[in-house]
Amino acid sequence: MSDDGAFSSFSTTARRRLPALFADYLDGGAHGERTMARNRKTFKRWGIVPRGLRDVSSINLSTQCFGKPWDLPLFLAPLGFAGMLHADGETGAARAALARNIGMGISTFSIAPMETVAATGARTMAQIYVMRDRSITLDMLERARSCGISDIILTIDTAITPVRERDARNGFRHLSRPTIRQLAGLMKHPRWLAGMHHRHMHKIGNIERYTASRGVMAQARDIASQIDPSLSWDDLAWLRAHWKGTLVVKGVMHPDDAYQIAEACADGIIVSNHGGRQMDPAPSALDVLPAIADRLAGRLDIVIDGGIRRGSDVVTALLLGATAVSIGRPWGWALTAGGTDGVGAALDTLAQEIRDVMALAGLCDMKELHTTGKRALWQF
Ligand SMILES: Cc1cc2nc3c(=O)[nH]c(=O)nc-3n(C[C@H](O)[C@H](O)[C@H](O)COP(=O)(O)O)c2cc1C
Repeated sequence: MSDDGAFSSFSTTARRRLPALFADYLDGGAHGERTMARNRKTFKRWGIVPRGLRDVSSINLSTQCFGKPWDLPLFLAPLGFAGMLHADGETGAARAALARNIGMGISTFSIAPMETVAATGARTMAQIYVMRDRSITLDMLERARSCGISDIILTIDTAITPVRERDARNGFRHLSRPTIRQLAGLMKHPRWLAGMHHRHMHKIGNIERYTASRGVMAQARDIASQIDPSLSWDDLAWLRAHWKGTLVVKGVMHPDDAYQIAEACADGIIVSNHGGRQMDPAPSALDVLPAIADRLAGRLDIVIDGGIRRGSDVVTALLLGATAVSIGRPWGWALTAGGTDGVGAALDTLAQEIRDVMALAGLCDMKELHTTGKRALWQF
C-alpha cells in the first residue's frame, strides 16, 4: 500500500484520473524502487519530542533560503512533463506557489516554456542540464535572464537515465506513435484527454526550439540524449563563469561533493536522489543529510527532497540541518487532482501540519528550530 501521508487523497484521485502511462511515470522509480521506498521509510526512524510550557501562540514559518525570503520553508521541485498532468499545467502550479510566496523549479522538460511560467510572477528557478551542445545551455541561461529568472538549478544526478521498470512495461517512451493498447488506455480517461486537447499539449514548450522532432516523447528523447555524461568539475566552473545569479546544484548525496560545490562558489545545494528515479539502491536523502550539513558547516543553504509527505517530515529535515525542503510527486498529484486549487490546498495542508508539529515541539520560528536542531529529535 502506498504511504503518501498528507497527500493520500490527492494521490488516490490522481491515480484514478490519469492514464496508467502517466500515473506510473509520476509514481515510479529506478530499477527495484528500493531507493524510492527508503526515502519514505527513513522518516519513520525519527520522532520529535513534545515540549510544554512554552508560549506557542504564534508560529512563524518564514525563512531565508538561497538569499531570498520565503513564507514557508518549502518549494515545488522541478517535475518534467507536469503540464501533461492537468490542463492548468506548470503555470497553474506556479500560481499556487505565488499565492503562498514560495519558489518553484521549472524543469528543463516543462511543457510550458520557462517564459510563460515566469510571466505568472511566481518566484521561479530554471532547472537546467549542461548539454553536449553547450550553446543550448547558454541559450537557456540567456532566456532565464531575459524573463527575469535570477536562480538556476543545475541537476547533476542524471549522467544516464536508468531503466524505470514501470515506464518500460508501459512503453512510455514510445508515445510519439502510440500503440492500440496505449490509445485504448488513454481513451479510458476522457476528462484528462479533453484537458490535454484543449491546451494543445503535444510538445515540450521549454525545449522544442532545440529539436526538429515533433511530439512530446520524440522531443524528450532528443534532449535527454543531449545531457552530457562527461560533466565534471570544470563544467561547474564554466557554468559559474556564465551565470552571475544564484546557482544551486541539485542531486548532491556525498559530503565531499557538497564541500567541493561550496569551493566552486555555488550558492546552494539540493540534497536529493531524484526521488529514487536514478541510483537504485542509494541511501535516502535524509540518511546523508546530517553528514553533509556537518561538512558544509553553514557555508551554503541546503534544500532536501525525497519522500517528504508530512509536516513532521519537513520539521525532521530542518532539525537535521536543512534550510528548507522541496516536494516533487506530491504537487504532481495535487495538480492532477485539482489544478491550481489542488496544489494550493496541498501546500496549505502541509503548512498547517508544520505549524502543528512546531507548536507541540515548543518551536516558534525557524531560528529557534535551527538552534535546537537534533536535540528536538528522538531516534527510534
Ligand atoms: C515525474 C517526475 C519528473 C521529474 N523531473 C525532474 C526534472 O525534470 N529535473 C529534475 O531535476 N528533477 C526531476 N525530478 C525529481 C524531482 O525534482 C525531485 O527531486 C523528486 O521528485 C523528489 O522526490 P519526491 O517526489 O519523493 O518528493 C522529477 C521527479 C518526478 C517524480
